[in-house]
Amino acid sequence: MPSPQRSSSEPLLTFDNQVAIVTGAGRGLGRCHALELARRGARVVVNDLGSAVDGSGNSMSAAQAVVDEITAAGGTAIANGDSVSTEAGGAAIVAAAKDAYGQVDILVNNAGILRDAAFKNMTADQVDAVIAVHLTGAFNVTRAVWPIMREQNYGRIIQTTSGTGLFGNFGQTNYGAAKMGLVGMMHVLAIEGARNGITVNAIAPIARTRMTEDIMGEAGMAMDPELVTPVVVYLAHRDCDRTAHMYSVGAGKVSRVFIGVTEGVQNDALTAESVAAAIDQIDDPANFTIRGGPTPA
Ligand SMILES: NC(=O)c1ccc[n+]([C@@H]2O[C@H](COP(=O)([O-])OP(=O)(O)OC[C@H]3O[C@@H](n4cnc5c(N)ncnc54)[C@H](O)[C@@H]3O)[C@@H](O)[C@H]2O)c1
Repeated sequence: MPSPQRSSSEPLLTFDNQVAIVTGAGRGLGRCHALELARRGARVVVNDLGSAVDGSGNSMSAAQAVVDEITAAGGTAIANGDSVSTEAGGAAIVAAAKDAYGQVDILVNNAGILRDAAFKNMTADQVDAVIAVHLTGAFNVTRAVWPIMREQNYGRIIQTTSGTGLFGNFGQTNYGAAKMGLVGMMHVLAIEGARNGITVNAIAPIARTRMTEDIMGEAGMAMDPELVTPVVVYLAHRDCDRTAHMYSVGAGKVSRVFIGVTEGVQNDALTAESVAAAIDQIDDPANFTIRGGPTPA
């Protein structure tokens, strides 16, 4: 599939007559996704609670500012300030899209917060708050949008996972668990949605945003959020046939991340000792297979 340049004024991957919801789109990555989907013709619901990085506070100004940018550029968008972290909030976000535009074709689950702490110091509140936004939040919005996508036999859902969940990062057990939860959700939803033309994929982005600017330093200067959005746009497009795929994307580098299973060993009389004896062979990544995705009908 041809891929247009970022600055192209006539994109080839367009979204005319389509409606997208981007959660947490008042700033950072979500803002870039919303602007680019709108530039390519989608009508966009710019959802953002307008909270601080730790999830505290709320304001409509961030979402409204992005809507103003979209409309000033000739696009179509509405702002929504509901929280993804409650069932009512998820329903209200999707209802806003239905009320304004009558349909939802694309959902980008992007809203996020951080409450970092080394595990020895992590409180139940820090765990609950992070899981509520990232994981329960994705459930809340996706559950509201699912019947619409099933009914129209079409949908594109993009999860925002993280290298922290996939690979680990000190001080983020709550965040890593929530982000890996999104991967499990993606795998199952990809199977359940396949019959109804719904694809579900995930990105693990790396970008300089307010969430990361303190830890990125100089290296972050190359990590433009606009260099993440093209993968979201591709996955959101009608022509994209991928589902249950994950892509690491940042600073212009895109790679697939997958769950592989080693060839392993087969031993009908398996014992702890035979596992110990064969552990290097069990671990050997040569000849791995990739698991995940819908089973062919
Ligand atoms: N920036 C990175 O390098 C990076 C890396 C891995 C994953 N991510 C993920 O990308 C997503 C976007 O992060 P970002 O870096 O753009 O951060 P950001 O803080 O700039 O944007 C996150 C947005 O989510 C909004 N939000 C928070 N709680 C919400 C809620 N309950 N309901 C609706 N909106 C809410 C915030 O107001 C904020 O505007 C997050 O899911 C984050 O975990 C980012």
